[in-house]
Amino acid sequence: MKIGIIIGSVRDDRKGDDVGSWLSKLAQSRDTDMTYELVDLRQFDLPVLTSATVPGAANRQYDDERVTRWGQKIDGYDGFIFVTPEYNHGVPGGFKNAFDVIYPEWVKKAVAFVSYGAMSGSRAVEAWRPVVANADMYDIRAQVALSTFSEFDGETFTPADRNADEAADLFDSLEAATTALATLRS
Ligand SMILES: Cc1cc2nc3c(=O)[nH]c(=O)nc-3n(C[C@H](O)[C@H](O)[C@H](O)COP(=O)(O)O)c2cc1C
Repeated sequence: MKIGIIIGSVRDDRKGDDVGSWLSKLAQSRDTDMTYELVDLRQFDLPVLTSATVPGAANRQYDDERVTRWGQKIDGYDGFIFVTPEYNHGVPGGFKNAFDVIYPEWVKKAVAFVSYGAMSGSRAVEAWRPVVANADMYDIRAQVALSTFSEFDGETFTPADRNADEAADLFDSLEAATTALATLRS
């Protein structure tokens, strides 16, 4: 089974790159049958949702080929880690749009959150949870919350040892839920 680690910022010089790479390295070092892959939202150049057909009713037939490609990518994963910054005390608009433009590709899959921000991105994660619930996703309680003050020394990302321990808890829970939820989709 496959888990996608989605870098959800599309900004130039984003902090999300460092966080995603760190997390991916930890994931690759795990003794598990689960495969982890980095998914870079920026590679998909997604349009803002304008389609008249609600994505949940589109039967995976989207108006824009960039959305189709994104949907196919997400369809290939059984679970996710959302690497999310916090913008204006909420979820980043580009990432939310990427969530909104498709629908069945998310349904009945597990999702965990790794966040960062001045308050470690906690408010963004609390904003994400009801969003993913609308796609019948199972959101993992364990999270890694990184402070842009203590874990980022200026531009340099220096995670604390405890962050790796938190990530290990997150991976454990996510892998168990990902395996369990596959039975609901079959
Ligand atoms: C539009 C915008 C809004 C932001 N709002 C918040 C915020 O509400 N809380 C916070 O902790 N940081 C906020 N920040 C600062 C981000 O945490 C910081 O810029 C971080 O590097 C963003 O992640 P990224 O570089 O991966 O895009 C905001 C940044 C942007 C660009």
